[in-house]
Amino acid sequence: MWLTVVLLLCSQFILGAANQALTFDADCDGQDIFDAVDVALRHYNDEKQDDNQFILHRITEARTRPENDGGTHYFVKYEIYESSCAVKSGKVWQECDYKRSEAETGACSAHVLINKELKINDVIFQNCSYIAILDPLTYSYYPCRGCWKPIDFNSVELLRIVKNAIETMTWIGSHPFHFDLEEMKNASRQVVCGWNYKMVYTVRQTNCSKSEVPDLTPQCKIDTNGISGNCETTAYIGPNHFIQVISQICKTDTGFCLFCRTEVDPNDPELRDLLRQVIDEYNSDNNHTNLYNIFSVGRAKKEGLGGTMYDVSFTMKETNCTKSVYAILEDECQISESSSTFDCDVKFNVTNKAIKVHSIPQCFEIMGSVLGPLLFLSLGDCNRGLVS
Ligand SMILES: *[C@@H]1O[C@H](CO)[C@@H](O)[C@H](O)[C@H]1NC(C)=O
Ligand SMILES: *[C@@H]1O[C@H](CO)[C@@H](O)[C@H](O)[C@H]1NC(C)=O
Ligand SMILES: *[C@@H]1O[C@H](CO)[C@@H](O)[C@H](O)[C@H]1NC(C)=O
Ligand SMILES: *[C@@H]1O[C@H](CO)[C@@H](O)[C@H](O)[C@H]1NC(C)=O
Ligand SMILES: *[C@@H]1O[C@H](CO)[C@@H](O)[C@H](O)[C@H]1NC(C)=O
Repeated sequence: MWLTVVLLLCSQFILGAANQALTFDADCDGQDIFDAVDVALRHYNDEKQDDNQFILHRITEARTRPENDGGTHYFVKYEIYESSCAVKSGKVWQECDYKRSEAETGACSAHVLINKELKINDVIFQNCSYIAILDPLTYSYYPCRGCWKPIDFNSVELLRIVKNAIETMTWIGSHPFHFDLEEMKNASRQVVCGWNYKMVYTVRQTNCSKSEVPDLTPQCKIDTNGISGNCETTAYIGPNHFIQVISQICKTDTGFCLFCRTEVDPNDPELRDLLRQVIDEYNSDNNHTNLYNIFSVGRAKKEGLGGTMYDVSFTMKETNCTKSVYAILEDECQISESSSTFDCDVKFNVTNKAIKVHSIPQCFEIMGSVLGPLLFLSLGDCNRGLVS
């Protein structure tokens, strides 16, 4: 056994050096890359003798080298996180959740040969070591995602997310009664340095009113004559198990929106245009000597049928245009990098192209120097992180 390992390693080193030029950078978002990592990780978990299996956290690098016979060599690097499933439990890693505490993390590099026609799935080399992996908030751009896989409707994590989503709907929505889960229709999830969940379910009104019963209790029963809704929710869960509901759309059979809330991409042109109007209003209403401009946009949500109510957090900084010279922001108004950064929140309503700002942006100055643009982790993936 020891010998084989050494031989494998040696040939890898020779091959590695000789074939460097023949490998190609691959898009680690690709399904074939994900499949190669899946083969490598399953192999790693199968070989593991004790403790827990590991789940894929994210893929960080991928190169490929095609063979003449239709096979492909994959050279991948990926990060792993300890799961709550024991080895030899008969489960594959896709069925496992992040271990809740004291989880080990690690990084692996692997060389996998896959030939679909000849049904070859060989892990030619793999080296995993336990190292600390970065918290999602410190990631820069990593677009890797796995494919959507159906999951068990009775998964504890799934029910926790659905309950959380229904509670949010109850509290933010205007309906006077608590809602509860009626039936789970579909659930699947995807690896994105954490998990994205997609759920389809129905909810129905219970006999507990929000004014009389603050929290949904087991005594609250579904009122079969009450209003029901068909919901589609997507949420993101990282290793810290914190739930971030990305979008939640619940409509009645007639299409009335019981609760409709979605996150908006911070770079969405329509959003940027609306924020420009917000900042113009802000500039005309205050006593600063200079005009301010948006520096970065963090999380943005919109709510309501068709999406009319926006709730956005952003940062702003002073520009070099004085109000005595410029009435509104012009192209030549540049942000003064050395000026203080303000962290702001604003809510506004958009109807028929009219925009009504509910209150002036609530801003506070961020103390100390902020080096780069502050971006917020959003949309439940690792595409946007804090860029240091
Ligand atoms: C395995 O990975 C560790 C950490 O990156 C490295 O120090 C070690 O040299 C690697 N071993 C082999 C055989 O490549
Ligand atoms: C359930 O979700 C999966 C994955 O998103 C999809 O392929 C399938 O069609 C869905 N099934 C139903 C009944 O909606
Ligand atoms: C809701 O219905 C259940 C079962 O009929 C009953 O025990 C409970 O008291 C009711 N709760 C309220 C707030 O009416
Ligand atoms: C601007 O200055 C005037 C007069 O000093 C003051 O009354 C007003 O509240 C100030 N407005 C803001 C937004 O600070
Ligand atoms: C602001 O700074 C930019 C870049 O330094 C410069 O091109 C522009 O002319 C300045 N604008 C004003 C009004 O000073």
